[in-house]
Amino acid sequence: MGGTRGMLIVFEGLDRSGKSTQCEKLVQTLRNEGEKVEHMQFPNRTTPIGQMINEYLTGESQQEDHVIHLLFSANRWESAQAIENHIRAGTTVVIDRYSYSGCVYSAAKQNKAMDLEWCRQPEEGLPRPDLCLFLDLSSEEAAKRGGFGTERYEKQDLQARVRELYTEMRQHEDEREDIVVVNAGQSIEEVQCEVLKVVKEARRQLDTQGLELRHMR
Ligand code: TMP
Ligand code: MG
Repeated sequence: MGGTRGMLIVFEGLDRSGKSTQCEKLVQTLRNEGEKVEHMQFPNRTTPIGQMINEYLTGESQQEDHVIHLLFSANRWESAQAIENHIRAGTTVVIDRYSYSGCVYSAAKQNKAMDLEWCRQPEEGLPRPDLCLFLDLSSEEAAKRGGFGTERYEKQDLQARVRELYTEMRQHEDEREDIVVVNAGQSIEEVQCEVLKVVKEARRQLDTQGLELRHMR
């Protein structure tokens, strides 16, 4: 995989959909091919903002819905420049969750005015992924995979709404272009194979079209 700039690749999906596994496998495969790859995840729980998010998710603290939404977004903004720098330096950045999680999990709370459109606003201006791989799994299947954990959003009714909102979000013109749905109900190897195919195709397109890194709008 050649090209002048790195790609911005994001994995999305419900909790237990296999994102972390597939992220690691893709990072490893690309590195084995000699590509420079940076592996990130959101929330990034290591920063002061990330620690506040972690306490909220584990139930140690409470946050008003709008406040935690903006903290999740701020947690991406604090890494935005680093992501751009990597990409311009030719390093591909693979991220476990991004703005899409930011929108659908907050909107799933059904706190009246916090619809997808409201939730998307603070994301505008962030680096726009070249590709978002949505690992699609029903909330029932996700629950069967050893059950959800104990973190705040790991409940089946919320996960079911999250999945519907991921579908709704694909109606936005940019998201429709960026998101590729992968059936996460297949074996790890099958998903890995499909993911790689989609990534290679995206790289080919980028190389032929010579696209600059874009921003969320
Ligand atoms: P994780 O399980 O990938 O560490 O993510 C923790 C939870 O945070 C997960 O349930 C999804 C949720 N989340 C948001 O609500 N907003 C966000 O912006 C992100 C990145 C994650
Ligand atoms: Mg989780």
